[in-house]
Amino acid sequence: MKKLFLVANWKSNKTVSEAHSFMISFLNRDFITWMHSQDTDTNGNKQIVICPSFTLLAELDKLIKQHAPSFLLSLGAQNMSPFDKGPYTGEESAAQISEFAKYVILGHSERRLNFKETDQQVEEKVAIARKYQLEPIVCVQGKNTPVPQGVHIVAYEPLDAISTGQVGEPASPERAEEVAHFLKHERHIPYVLYGGSVDPSNVRQYTSLESINGVLIGGASLDPVSFSQIIQNA
Ligand code: PGA
Repeated sequence: MKKLFLVANWKSNKTVSEAHSFMISFLNRDFITWMHSQDTDTNGNKQIVICPSFTLLAELDKLIKQHAPSFLLSLGAQNMSPFDKGPYTGEESAAQISEFAKYVILGHSERRLNFKETDQQVEEKVAIARKYQLEPIVCVQGKNTPVPQGVHIVAYEPLDAISTGQVGEPASPERAEEVAHFLKHERHIPYVLYGGSVDPSNVRQYTSLESINGVLIGGASLDPVSFSQIIQNA
């Protein structure tokens, strides 16, 4: 059975109280029952990851420990300092993030575009993430984006597929499969995710593809009902 990562990228959304309300609704009784059944039935391959802002990590970590099985639901960050801990004002280090998160999204196109993040910085961040046992999820915009050595999870996110971008048109499943196949076989990436305008109605088109091991979801992950539908439909 293939492993599926269902990764929510909340971007710069939600206050602590909004994140709290999301979790109470998301982890409702039906969903908890469904999640507890996952280690035995055919859906036991799903790994849910929520990547909120740094300000929300501690609160969500507390709620998850109280209410959800950690083998199924864990946290990720959306970025990380390229430096180790130390005198770097305004940056969150891998050591700090790893107190709460197992994963970190690196090289998202919004960081490359708005904060001029470079391939070189992504490579440096991957090395520091590894030092602190954080699993990087490296975003690539196409076949030509370099992937640093030792990365296990890559998200293929074509620029014009992201809902906040200029087009917001999801990639065709054929295109997603072609790029994912290339990343798996030519770049030797074990897990390739697709991201860009994923929603409950189209998620299965991607997760059923041979080379795709999950999805990175932006807008549709902000609503607890739509995010749980995505997870169940995947
Ligand atoms: P979207 O964002 O699902 O809102 O298109 C995806 C992403 O930017 O990771």
